[in-house]
Amino acid sequence: MSKVKRIKGFADMFSPESDTFTFMETAAREVFGSFGYKELRTPIIERTELFKRSIGDETDVVQKEMYTFDDRKGRSLTMRPEATAGVMRAYIEGNVNASEQISKLFTFGPMFRYERPQKGRMRQFHQINCECLGPVEPHADAEVILMLMTFLTRIGLKELVLEVNSLGCRDCRPQYNEALRTFLANLNKEELCEDCRRRMDTNPLRVLDCKVPACKALTENAPTIIEHTCETCRTHHDKVLSTLRAADVPFIQNDRLVRGLDYYNRTTFEVVSNAIGSQSSVAGGGRYDGLIKQLGGADVPGIGFACGMERLALTLGEREVEQPDFYIAILDEAGLEAGLMLAQSLRLAGKKGDVSFASKSMKAQMRQAGKKGARKALILGGDELAAKTVVVKDMETGEQVTVSQSELIEHI
Ligand code: HAM
Repeated sequence: MSKVKRIKGFADMFSPESDTFTFMETAAREVFGSFGYKELRTPIIERTELFKRSIGDETDVVQKEMYTFDDRKGRSLTMRPEATAGVMRAYIEGNVNASEQISKLFTFGPMFRYERPQKGRMRQFHQINCECLGPVEPHADAEVILMLMTFLTRIGLKELVLEVNSLGCRDCRPQYNEALRTFLANLNKEELCEDCRRRMDTNPLRVLDCKVPACKALTENAPTIIEHTCETCRTHHDKVLSTLRAADVPFIQNDRLVRGLDYYNRTTFEVVSNAIGSQSSVAGGGRYDGLIKQLGGADVPGIGFACGMERLALTLGEREVEQPDFYIAILDEAGLEAGLMLAQSLRLAGKKGDVSFASKSMKAQMRQAGKKGARKALILGGDELAAKTVVVKDMETGEQVTVSQSELIEHI
């Protein structure tokens, strides 16, 4: 019989990788909770229109990467390529702004993008996503970034660089786009990649984000958006930066940080790790003040970020596996039954461990106890069963003592 295989770009995650994910989620809950964030869970599938209207028709995500299909009634649905759009839809649909002025929401889960899979780039990947809805103040931008850096430090990430930029606003971006278009028009178009030739007119900002070396070199001296932002955007950006400095968060200004999604205005940021090769961005985010209105909601500003959990896991490396407290070795069926009861009473007392099911030799069971890393092996032979005792073997020192089952807990 042929075997059914998993899909390219989709992964199974066994322990210890799944333990790393649980560890990250637990740390995220603690850190975000301490900043007043609450968890929101949204569906994995949404109407395609939601992503087109938020992420933008001209983006790579919408044009090339979405898993889109028609359901049985012919409605176009898409497996979410990111979390922000769904969070905005839920916020609008739940009329949340009627009951609270500021909403701080976090969400975890799988996202789907049809990209070319490689190390740190999957077709199903997982994000830890946060959104702060309501505040216009630049201090909120700084707080969101501070929370992200607190989380990344808490999980032990090293070699991180925080990059920050401003994309201006509806008032000043058109002038910048014009300046950029003029600059691009003077280049030899033939030397730009096909995507950039198209983006030059439709979305010139995205040319700055192109990873093709020739495009990068050609646009090296392109005008920067920071030089073209309006007074309000500049003041906002300066305040974000000065607040980050006051909070001792190191950063670099990256004039070319435009991000791959269209909803951003003003602050954008990414965290890059030098530890994982070319897919170096472990987190990214920014402000999106017009997005909720654009999706039919009230005029509520927002800012947020998402971390890619696979990329975080790559930089974290393997976590130490937790050692079980005990492993019970048995001789026969009667021992197995008694072992199960004994294990259950130990677990109820807060200990971790398991019982050997397989009818193997005592030697093989001891090897198994060692392989599992158990601190103590508990041996239940015929004599022990009769006397209601158990042999406790310290797996590190090899020392053995026989104790009564009722006093076992004191020896584990
Ligand atoms: P993004 O930059 O598209 O932003 O994705 C955020 C993070 O998700 C990336 O920095 C990366 O770590 C991870 N990621 C993206 N694509 C993949 C992939 N194919 N495989 C593995 N990891 C990946 C967003 O998604 C925005 N929604 C973030 C945001 C929230 N902005 C405001 N609020």
